[in-house]
Amino acid sequence: MCDARLGRRRRRAAQAQLTEYPRRARVVPEMTTLGIIGAGHIGSEVARAAVAHGYDVVIANSRGPETLSDLVAELGPRARAATAAEAGAAGEVVVVTVPLHALTQVPVEPLAGKIVLDTNNYYFERDGHIEALDKGETTTSQMLQEHLPTSKVAKAFNHIRSADITADGTPAGTENRRALATSSDFDDAAAFVRSFYDELGFDTVNIGPLSESWRVERDRPAYVVRQNAEELVENLAKAHRLP
Ligand SMILES: NC(=O)c1ccc[n+]([C@@H]2O[C@H](COP(=O)([O-])OP(=O)(O)OC[C@H]3O[C@@H](n4cnc5c(N)ncnc54)[C@H](OP(=O)(O)O)[C@@H]3O)[C@@H](O)[C@H]2O)c1
Repeated sequence: MCDARLGRRRRRAAQAQLTEYPRRARVVPEMTTLGIIGAGHIGSEVARAAVAHGYDVVIANSRGPETLSDLVAELGPRARAATAAEAGAAGEVVVVTVPLHALTQVPVEPLAGKIVLDTNNYYFERDGHIEALDKGETTTSQMLQEHLPTSKVAKAFNHIRSADITADGTPAGTENRRALATSSDFDDAAAFVRSFYDELGFDTVNIGPLSESWRVERDRPAYVVRQNAEELVENLAKAHRLP
């Protein structure tokens, strides 16, 4: 199919998605605790945003909970530090936000059956070359989904600068509200991300299955630029798989 037709179809599909879920509906109503594996730039900002919206967070890094005392003190009584397995077990929903080269160290069993938000990007300078990504044969989120076959992976927060997560959110309906993309092979996981983004202050564009999530990966037009939903739909449609 030609790029223009594909673009029109995606734009229509994404625009339909924009109205599919009621704003502020909690798709995982029982979600009170967010597990966060990775406590760096993104993990700590997602933790700040989640705590500010009334969630409990259990957060982990690679060096052990004792090294997170400053962050946990800043986050307050809704937060505690733990090992990655404990954070995975504690969260009804879990964010995986470690460098891509550490993906296979993410615990599998504690995340079974859960929605898992994947913030990862591929930087060969940091992660080493991964042939299947270099050749456009897979996506970073498909790699996490393969590692976590019993979880429901959804791409989230991978194309926003970490500091903007707590700085750029605005109430639903704000003119020119910033939009973020998601992608998942599971409708309920994509719906959760939409609901969570909305709570944190962002509109959502759903790209569709994880095999399409390359559209929002590094160096594509939608990557780390401020865009509203309409602009994001256009930028996703403009993306090319390989340079
Ligand atoms: N920075 C951004 O603005 C940004 C934006 C969007 C997406 N991303 C992507 O999101 C991911 C995380 O980025 P970041 O900037 O937050 O990275 P970062 O600042 O380097 O933080 C990475 C975190 O992962 C932890 N970690 C590493 N291996 C682990 C393991 N095996 N188990 C548990 N925790 C582990 C690290 O713990 P230790 O410190 O103890 O090693 C650290 O807390 C990357 O794929 C990145 O490309 C980043």
